[in-house]
This record gives sequence, C-alpha cells and structure tokens, in this order.
Amino acid sequence: MKIVLLGAPGAGKGTQAQKLVEDYGVAHISTGDLLRAAVKAQSKLGVEAKGYMDAGKLVPDRLVVDLVKERLGQDDAKRGFILDGFPRNTAQAEVLDRELDAMGISLDAALLVDVAADVIINRLSSRRTCRSCGYTAGAGVDVCPRCGGEMYQRDDDKPETIKKRLDTYREQTEPLVDYYGKKGLLKKVDGDRPVDEVYADVKVLLGL
Ligand code: AP5
Repeated sequence: MKIVLLGAPGAGKGTQAQKLVEDYGVAHISTGDLLRAAVKAQSKLGVEAKGYMDAGKLVPDRLVVDLVKERLGQDDAKRGFILDGFPRNTAQAEVLDRELDAMGISLDAALLVDVAADVIINRLSSRRTCRSCGYTAGAGVDVCPRCGGEMYQRDDDKPETIKKRLDTYREQTEPLVDYYGKKGLLKKVDGDRPVDEVYADVKVLLGL
C-alpha cells in the first residue's frame, strides 16, 4: 500500500490512517506529527515551523520536503506507506513524484476524505490529541487509549486558527484533487459518517 491521503483539516485523515496502520502495518508518514515533534523538541526547524502552524498557514516547502524524503527512506516505509498531510500544494506533489520516480515506486491511490466545512469546525474544536503518540479522539478523553499519555487540545484547534486552516486548504491543497484526478489516482470517500463505516469503504476503495 502506497497512498496519499487528501482532505480538509479534521476530515479524518489521521483517524483512517491509524486504522490502516493497525491492520496492515504500513508506515504512517504524517507531516503534521513530524512538525509537532520538531516543535516539541525545540529544534531549529521546529522553532521556525511553529509560527506558521499557529497561524494556520503552510510551513515553507523547504522545511517539509526533506523531512518527508528522509522518512520515506526508512525501513518501515519499504512495506508500504500512508502519506498524511503531504503533499499540501502542487509544488510538493511534483517533488513527491520526482522522489518516488527516483526510488522506482509509484503511488497506488490518492484517497480524498470528503467532509463539509461545518462538520469540520465542530470536530476540530472538540478534538483531543495525545502528547506522547499523537493518537486523536473527541473531547472527554483525558488519557490516551493507545499509550496512556496525556490528551491535550492542539494550539491550532482554536476556532480562529481552524478558519485560517480551512482557507489555506481551499487555496493551496484542494487543487491536488484535480492533480491526482488527472493522473487517474483519485478515490473519494464520504467522511461524514461513523468512523467504522468510512473505514469499511476505504478498504473497498483501496482493494483491501
Ligand atoms: P496536520 O497535522 O496535517 O493537520 P490537518 O491537515 O489540518 O489535519 P488534521 O490533523 O487537523 O485532521 P485529520 O484530517 O487528520 O483529522 P483527524 O483524523 O485528526 O497539519 C498541521 C499543520 O502543520 C498545518 O496547518 C501546517 O501548518 C503544517 N503542515 C503539515 N503538513 C504540512 C505540509 N505538507 N506542508 C506545509 N505545512 C504543513 O480527525 C479530527 C477529529 O474528528 C478527531 O477528534 C477525530 O476523533 C474526529 N473524527 C475523525 N473521523 C470522524 C468521523 N468519521 N466521525 C466523527 N468524528 C470523527
């Protein structure tokens, strides 16, 4: 399995990726998680990225692209991977195409998790994320069911930042739906249903 997950912030990309990783043991390459880890570690990259993330903007390509290239080269990605949150614009998609070509790999699919904006705002406002492993759940879950870590509200899950993230998605990321459509790779799932119903369709669409 070598797939790209597309969809607005809060559409459920991470949630579906978690389930695919549990069932199929592929690598979950989430640029959001990689960037949050860099912010937590207060690395040079993390310090620079934080301002963009808190403002709901994309982090510059030069900071993200190398993270993904390095992650794709790691051993677990050889069994397959789910790219979650990358690419985020056409320039990143073109870099990914070149990188995969050089590795002799081709994508199986670009899966769009489709959810309306009003649903997204409710979901993100109530999302809680594990500080240790990045697991996500709704409000009211204080202890991570996966690793026992502390659940917290992401800085960018505040209403004013959610709106900016949605604008950024429409302007910069949504054009990738056409980009992958033209390549014949696009598959679309209705993400506004219970998680397990969405997942059942995801497996059918991916031929799993
Ligand atoms: P990132 O972490 O990638 O955030 P995002 O794309 O905004 O996506 P989210 O993680 O918010 O949502 P999701 O679709 O994974 O939803 P989830 O499954 O958690 O990026 C954060 C920031 O990093 C960006 O704004 C940018 O600054 C930077 N960045 C990242 N990648 C970058 C890149 N490539 N280039 C430049 N900058 C980059 O679900 C959301 C909630 O809904 C959860 O509470 C979940 O439990 C719930 N839920 C999920 N599915 C369902 C369902 N079917 N029904 C009901 N509830 C559900």
